[in-house]
Amino acid sequence: MVGKQDTEPEENMSDIESFKQEQRVFDPPADFVANAAISGMDAYRAMCAEAEEDYEGFWARLAQQNIQWTKPFTKRLDASNAPFYKWFEDGELNVATNCLDRHLTNGNADKTALIFESDDAKVSSVTYRELYERVCKFANGLKSLGVQKGDRVVIYMPMSIEGISAMLACARIGATHSVVFGGFSAKSLQERIIDAGAVAVLTADYQVRGGRQLPLKAIVDEALDMGGCDTIRKVIVYQRTGADVNFNKDRDLWLHDLVDGQKAECEPVPVGAEHPLFILYTSGSTGKPKGVQHSSGGYLLWSMLTMKWSFDIKPEDIYWCTADIGWITGHTYVTYGPLACGATQIVFEGVPTYPNAGRFWDMVQRHKISIFYTAPTAIRSLIKASEADPKTHPREYDLSSLRLLGSVGEPINPEAWMWYYKNVGGERCPIADTFWQTETGGHVITPLPGATPMVPGSCTLPLPGIAAAVVDDAGHDLPNGKGGLLVIKKPWPSMIRNIWNDPERFTKSYFPQELGGTTYLAGDGAIRNEETGYFTITGRIDDVLNISGHRLGTAEIESALVANPIVAEAAVVGKPDDTTGESICAFVVLKRTRPEGDDAKAIAKELREWVAKEISPIARPREIRFGDNLPKTRSGKIMRRLLRVIAKDEEITQDISTLENPAILEQLKQAQ
Ligand code: WT7
Repeated sequence: MVGKQDTEPEENMSDIESFKQEQRVFDPPADFVANAAISGMDAYRAMCAEAEEDYEGFWARLAQQNIQWTKPFTKRLDASNAPFYKWFEDGELNVATNCLDRHLTNGNADKTALIFESDDAKVSSVTYRELYERVCKFANGLKSLGVQKGDRVVIYMPMSIEGISAMLACARIGATHSVVFGGFSAKSLQERIIDAGAVAVLTADYQVRGGRQLPLKAIVDEALDMGGCDTIRKVIVYQRTGADVNFNKDRDLWLHDLVDGQKAECEPVPVGAEHPLFILYTSGSTGKPKGVQHSSGGYLLWSMLTMKWSFDIKPEDIYWCTADIGWITGHTYVTYGPLACGATQIVFEGVPTYPNAGRFWDMVQRHKISIFYTAPTAIRSLIKASEADPKTHPREYDLSSLRLLGSVGEPINPEAWMWYYKNVGGERCPIADTFWQTETGGHVITPLPGATPMVPGSCTLPLPGIAAAVVDDAGHDLPNGKGGLLVIKKPWPSMIRNIWNDPERFTKSYFPQELGGTTYLAGDGAIRNEETGYFTITGRIDDVLNISGHRLGTAEIESALVANPIVAEAAVVGKPDDTTGESICAFVVLKRTRPEGDDAKAIAKELREWVAKEISPIARPREIRFGDNLPKTRSGKIMRRLLRVIAKDEEITQDISTLENPAILEQLKQAQ
């Protein structure tokens, strides 16, 4: 069976019901439609028809039109070793030249590429020419250290012009980067360095967010001191604050010393279209994160097409995607997509609530942002904050520059959608509710802002050429109105190519035999509207949680808990939360007797901090409950579906006849 074995489908039925009953339809505004690149549903349907008629020809045409190839491709899709699909395989390109050099000769050289706003609201910017020069110097610096095509480089940097330059510098010399989000712990960083076999870490002295400084360099030191990172030769440190850091003279180098005196030009290294541009680790249903491997050609193509299709990007737009470069959204919609399209964009170091919850709206007003892309969790927390402090409400700001809004990372509930539409978009901006995943490389199901009528809470229809469908466990198509597994039946250019070091896990996780072995299994449930065929995503079907749009595996958190010497056993479940989507509830059995009262509170606190340190503060359980045991079947399997009910403080109505130890349920009902 595919997916979670013990999930009760009725669990999130109330949400599904509210989506199903959503009747409101919002047509894209007429003036938006008139000026959009894809204007009207007929234009959308014509593109779908073109893809249908000549699938490979469709993508080949777009790849020729959008990408500057140093060697044109003659092969289109190679499915001979499916599901290890290859696109445009004999073509060669350099992704960094597609993001930078092309703009030196097309009139964009003096156009602003990046406008950086620091946590304390200091603003600086670079033009395309300046960014090109910075990246070339950085690339020459890396070359001088012996970093070569095919080497892996870990980037553990804050949101900054330097962080984006680091990614592009790697791309320029054909090195494969792996960005690790600055919130991840030393242990998570160490695991990723080892799995990727990285030769260098690019980091900063500190990261500044919300008025607080996080010592990135010290965390890198701690990761390397844990051992096993023998492939690392150098640590490059960008000086963000100038505060003290430890320096190991044989290993560490300041970024400014590395680039000082380097030439502002660097011959790009052409790579094959399938060359891994990057590896990005994400959570799966086992304890070990998966290194999602992406290509160069197909990935770049998708980043450009979706900027044009879903965001209708225009030369005069001021674009802002609030994601961090540590996530896939920051790869595709901060670094590669916008730059390849020659956009002007905001790069923000801080958080939405500092110095107050009006920060986003203040920035939209000051920078005259026209396209704004953020996560539902941010919107929901700003709704709450604006109720508590009306000065931070969007109505207090001039947001008239906005013409398009985007949402990403989790389902957006209709209430949050309506608030965003009315209060931020002034009822004149379409909302692109973009469904996608680390593995898909870019948007796959999303409304086209100048075409698709929008329904709050639905990501609407697949992009042209995306063969999305809802199927049952055996891979049979389900009729509209019936919930099932979300799949994509044909390969597309920006799809995941492999799991780094683990091709077996790649085929098992994404192309299960039950579905025929070549259909992509997204890992989400979905249901299509009976009349419109619109998709609504109903949540993960595996043991993956979505906390504030961040993806975490329950198994990962469980392994972190049992790594603590006092813990015997742990089971982690998600609990619905109004702001963060889900929150983490952990059920723990200690090696000693079950703690109660203040003792339990103290241990729960200790364990919460332990998990934050082992993985990341994002993974810190909201709640920990202790039992003498966990509810198990006679064969010893933990009955997580019961734990999900207990976490919600609901009465257990399910059949518990297969439960070995029903008495345990009473203990676990007691929250700390
Ligand atoms: C999971 C992927 C997409 C880039 C950022 C997160 C959920 C994402 C939506 C949406 C409903 C969504 C899914 C998906 N998700 N966008 N618009 N509507 N659910 O990437 O960390 O790989 O997480 O996020 O569950 O599988 P990710």
